[in-house]
This record gives sequence, C-alpha cells and structure tokens, in this order.
Amino acid sequence: MYMRIGVLGSGIVAQTLAVGFKSKGHDVVVGTSNPTKLADWSREEGIGIRSFAETAEFAALLILAVKGSAAMAVLRAAGPQRMLGKTVIDATNPVADAPPVNGVMPFFTGPNESLLELIQAEFQDVHFVKALNSVGYLHFIDPKFDGGPPTMFIAGNEPKAKVEVRGLLAQIGWETTDMGAAEAARAIEPLCMLWCIPGFSRNEWMHAFKLLKT
Ligand SMILES: NC(=O)c1ccc[n+]([C@@H]2O[C@H](COP(=O)([O-])OP(=O)(O)OC[C@H]3O[C@@H](n4cnc5c(N)ncnc54)[C@H](OP(=O)(O)O)[C@@H]3O)[C@@H](O)[C@H]2O)c1
Repeated sequence: MYMRIGVLGSGIVAQTLAVGFKSKGHDVVVGTSNPTKLADWSREEGIGIRSFAETAEFAALLILAVKGSAAMAVLRAAGPQRMLGKTVIDATNPVADAPPVNGVMPFFTGPNESLLELIQAEFQDVHFVKALNSVGYLHFIDPKFDGGPPTMFIAGNEPKAKVEVRGLLAQIGWETTDMGAAEAARAIEPLCMLWCIPGFSRNEWMHAFKLLKT
C-alpha cells in the first residue's frame, strides 16, 4: 500500500514518522508554520516542507503531530475542505503546560472527553483515528521488544479509516487493537500519561503496551 502522506508538525514526532513512512516507500511531505526550522533536515532526509494547507492538499492521508493545545489551530490552518473525507491519524495528546506531578503529566481535558472528540466535533467530515500517541517516538518505527510486537490502541468513528491506519501500523511493525468509536480516545489518550511515568520518575523509556489474550 503506497500513499501520499502529509505530516502536520515539525517536532520529533513529526520528523520520526515522516522519515519512517518514507523508508516504507510512501511519498511524504511535512507541514509547518515555520519552514526554515526544518530546512537542513529536509535537505538531509529528502522530505519536502510545505505549509499546513499545502500539506493537507497534497496528502491522501494526514498525521496530526503537533502540540495538543495547537491541534485545533493547525487543523483550521490546514483547512477542513482540503481534508474532506480523508483519514487523519491523531497522534497528539492533550498535555497541559504544567510540569508532571510525581511523574504524572497533567492534561487540559477532563476524564469524560478527549482531544480526538473535540477535533472530530469541529471537523465532522474528516475521519480522525487516534493512534501513535501512547508510546515514545523512539519506538514508532519497527519496535523491538522481547515480548514481540507491541499493541497500538486505536479509536475513531469511520471503519474504513481504521482499516487504512491498521495497514500503515502493520507496515511499521505494530499489532493494532481497535477500541471502538471516538469516545474510546478518553481511555487511549491517558495511556500517554501512564507510558511516561517510568520515564519522568526513573528515566526509563524503553517499554510499550501489549494486550495479552487467551
Ligand atoms: N514526544 C513523544 O515521544 C510523543 C509520542 C507520542 C505522541 N506525542 C504527541 O505528539 C505531539 C507532538 O509532539 P512533539 O514531541 O513532536 O512536539 P511538540 O513540542 O509537542 O509539538 C511541536 C509541534 O507543535 C506545533 N506547535 C507548538 N505550539 C504551537 C502553537 N502555539 N501554535 C501552532 N503550532 C504549535 C509546532 O508547530 P510548527 O511546526 O509550526 O513550529 C510543532 O510542529 C504532541 O501532541 C505529543 O503529545 C509525543
């Protein structure tokens, strides 16, 4: 499966996913409001840098990889009409601008809502799928763990979009468990908090989640 993938964001998550999906044969472009920031990286990696809107126009599938508090603004800049009917992997987390408390990161969302639902409510004709938010970027591409491939929990309202995302996740070495509609993101987003606790508390970052079944 070859796709034109647009990555919205310029941080380490966006860079890692852009390079990773390019290495799997996809045509990848990165969208940012600050193209000069990535000029050297773009030359080295052979990945084009465009505006958010141009990236949304180019892509058949998008990955949202910006700071959680900027997600809405970035999607507005990308433009709902350019994302119409497209799958958008939402890798963001609603992390608040405050330090962790005993290793636990504060969120700006409450327990009965999620950032995925907030963006899905505003951009109703875009097919958001929560994924890639519950593990550190070092493990995104071809994760290697003693227990075999880890599990990526996903959620979203559009079944066809989740099939696309499952296919892409398999290409980068992940098992996928579909937890259901957008509301399931209320449980998936806090997995990022859980994943980070050993990191902030003990500087341990080399782990991932796996769902065991009988
Ligand atoms: N770090 C990880 O290992 C990890 C793993 C899984 C998920 N995540 C999630 O992935 C997302 C990206 O994380 P990150 O660590 O790569 O970087 P980050 O520092 O959380 O985000 C950087 C990106 O956010 C954008 N941004 C920041 N403030 C903005 C503002 N006020 N207005 C508009 N855009 C703004 C920047 O846009 P410009 O390009 O325009 O500068 C840049 O692309 C976050 O939601 C994070 O929770 C992180």
